[in-house]
Amino acid sequence: MKIIIINGPNLNLLGKREPTIYGNASFEEYFNSLKKQYPNIQLEYFQSNIEGELIDKMHEVGFDYHGVILNAAAYTHTSVGIGDAVKAIETPVVEVHISNVYAREEFRQHSYISPNAAGVIVGFGLKGYQLALESFIK
Ligand code: DQA
Repeated sequence: MKIIIINGPNLNLLGKREPTIYGNASFEEYFNSLKKQYPNIQLEYFQSNIEGELIDKMHEVGFDYHGVILNAAAYTHTSVGIGDAVKAIETPVVEVHISNVYAREEFRQHSYISPNAAGVIVGFGLKGYQLALESFIK
């Protein structure tokens, strides 16, 4: 089973960025521990701060992989292009947000991804990625 985690802008700074909201762990540390827990899953990770690169990656994996776990970060709230890509591909996409976007600013409460996502996991910290992974396995 091939699953990819795709992270959007500023998530390369996890561990350093606003730790009271996003925690102290870097994503690489978390990803490596996740891979160890699921040795039978082909789990990949891609991060970009560039909207078009996120869309290109979804096109690349979206007719072949079993699942995409997508945290489009700020592009969630702005990108029609990423929303359209989620709709265009065949692979189901689970949308993840580390923080509870519904407890934050109002602009974070709209998502261009949710209408076409298989599911949405919000507010469970980094554990949300594992919950998304479990949703593909079970
Ligand atoms: C985020 C929430 C977004 O509103 C924000 O722009 C992010 C991260 C989250 O994981 O909580 O960069 O997607």
